[in-house]
Amino acid sequence: MNGLDFGHQRSAQERPGTLWYSARLVILLGPPGAGKGTQAHLIAQQSGLQHLSTGDMLRDNLRRDTDLGRMAKPFIEEGGLVPDNIVLGMVQDRIAQSDCIKGFILDGFPRTLAQARGLERICRVYKSKSITVVNLVVHPDTLVRRLTNRRICKLSGHIYHLIDHPPIQSGICDVDGSELLQRPDDNEDVIRERIRIYECHTRPLIDYYAARGLLCRVQAMGHPDAVSAEIKKLLDRQESTKQEARCSPLLTAPINESLGK
Ligand code: AP5
Repeated sequence: MNGLDFGHQRSAQERPGTLWYSARLVILLGPPGAGKGTQAHLIAQQSGLQHLSTGDMLRDNLRRDTDLGRMAKPFIEEGGLVPDNIVLGMVQDRIAQSDCIKGFILDGFPRTLAQARGLERICRVYKSKSITVVNLVVHPDTLVRRLTNRRICKLSGHIYHLIDHPPIQSGICDVDGSELLQRPDDNEDVIRERIRIYECHTRPLIDYYAARGLLCRVQAMGHPDAVSAEIKKLLDRQESTKQEARCSPLLTAPINESLGK
């Protein structure tokens, strides 16, 4: 696809369009530290949708020292963006797997207009009809504080905050007992660069999805459970609208057309 080896990723999708037909796609937008990973985890638990984080996929490649990981390393370390073709290839391979059949939550993707357009091409192949884009709105002043205090469990990626959501035992995950680590790119200089990159390349996606009628804004300054309850309400409301739309062919038209733009 892009010259890199994705051989480790099994490709369950042999006939495009068959797997996803009724799958639900949720995109979480927001700056670094907005709570995308935290919310994706909570929504996945409640909904059974698969949580797909491009940051986690890239870090997994880094750990396994794959070609993709070696290529991505300098971009991640400096807070820049991994090139679009690499990320698109990785995402396309991942969502072709059968655990995405019910639908999935994209955390950290798309991050550029080129990625958003690439995702639309993928959606057309899979005939996906149900897309919700949730923009997590947070005050910029909170981002650095959230990220410098973040710790992540080594085994399963459970997310903590040293002040607001500390583990019971220092340095140990409450859920699986594994060690808690700080991400190397969670130092203040790199965080500020990630925020700058977000402002230049990712913020324009808010207008992009708003123009397509797909964007929902959620205030994400409250407790994670309160934020998650808001998102759940929104998704439930959209699901019932979709059910009603199924009885009225006219109502489904704008959703399909918006994908083709
Ligand atoms: P990625 O891993 O996606 O990082 P990010 O976008 O910078 O986002 P974060 O994971 O830092 O924040 P988050 O919004 O998930 O917040 P979280 O829930 O953890 O990407 C890393 C790098 O990979 C990129 O810089 C880039 O190089 C590369 N990359 C990834 N995807 C790419 C793509 N598509 N294209 C190109 N390159 C790509 O929460 C943060 C902290 O806040 C935690 O401590 C948490 O406990 C706390 N918190 C969360 N919610 C709340 C709340 N409501 N109240 C109080 N505290 C909260």
